[in-house]
Amino acid sequence: MIQLKGVKISFGEEPLLKNITFSVGPGERIGLLGPGGCGKTTILKILLGLLIPDEGTVTMMGHDVVAMKSDTERRQVLRKVGMAFQQGALFDFMTVRENLFFAMEHMTDFSKEEMDRRVKMLLQAVKISRTEDQFPFELSGGMQRRVGIVRALATDPVVAFFDEPTAGLDPVTSTIILNMIRDLAGKTNDQALVVATSNVEIAIRFADRLVIVHEGQVVADGPWRELLTDGPPWVQHFLRVRLIGLDEEYARELDLPQKFIDWHWRAGGAVP
Ligand SMILES: Nc1ncnc2c1ncn2[C@@H]1O[C@H](COP(=O)(O)OP(=O)(O)O)[C@@H](O)[C@H]1O
Ligand SMILES: [Mg+2]
Repeated sequence: MIQLKGVKISFGEEPLLKNITFSVGPGERIGLLGPGGCGKTTILKILLGLLIPDEGTVTMMGHDVVAMKSDTERRQVLRKVGMAFQQGALFDFMTVRENLFFAMEHMTDFSKEEMDRRVKMLLQAVKISRTEDQFPFELSGGMQRRVGIVRALATDPVVAFFDEPTAGLDPVTSTIILNMIRDLAGKTNDQALVVATSNVEIAIRFADRLVIVHEGQVVADGPWRELLTDGPPWVQHFLRVRLIGLDEEYARELDLPQKFIDWHWRAGGAVP
């Protein structure tokens, strides 16, 4: 579905991405995780063909994204992709309903009735039905974010990217948003989902499999429970320090591995 191999890109002298390699299969859900500034958004832009890497290959649904010459081919691929950027990117001069319609009109062959049905269904699913005829500036940040997420999924994409979907939201709203993405997307089989975030807790709540980026490379790729206890030292450290301080009950809710719970709580917070 998605494949990056040896992707390199530089903006200044030092390359931001040196060697990014990972793939995502149909129906897979992954957390693209790494510290702020490590290049997550850049990776998503490369996948969308908005940035051209200096080296490496990028394949989306069998199409070579880097080599795509024609706008027609690019559009064909992008039609199957849903994208929610961190900054909502909603049109301020369109109502919520018009924003959703705009995406569907440009990216799908849905009939008017189908679009109507989807708008109702999606807004209801994220509990903002009443906003249908409102403009984005009339909504709270959390509501705008919901519209952005729903819009990314409105077109029933084969692949959907969510860039920092919960940044700046309170923990309760964050959880609602994450569950929403999972529930909505779960309705369609084989939809590949990627959530890019620098928040460990968000990443592990969303996905079992993490692709972790650090200093321009993928430093870990696998189930987070394994990475937490048996990953490379930097990865273990990165994951652990952000999970320290959670209360034990919450840790159980996250289903943290017993080994970690033993280390952290039984040993009084000592990290081996
Ligand atoms: N088009 C660009 N031109 C110059 N610098 C860029 C460009 N895009 C990203 N960068 C730089 O690359 C770094 C990482 O960007 P980004 O991909 O947004 O990281 P992340 O999403 O992981 O926080 C930032 O320091 C940013 O300034
Ligand atoms: Mg980013």
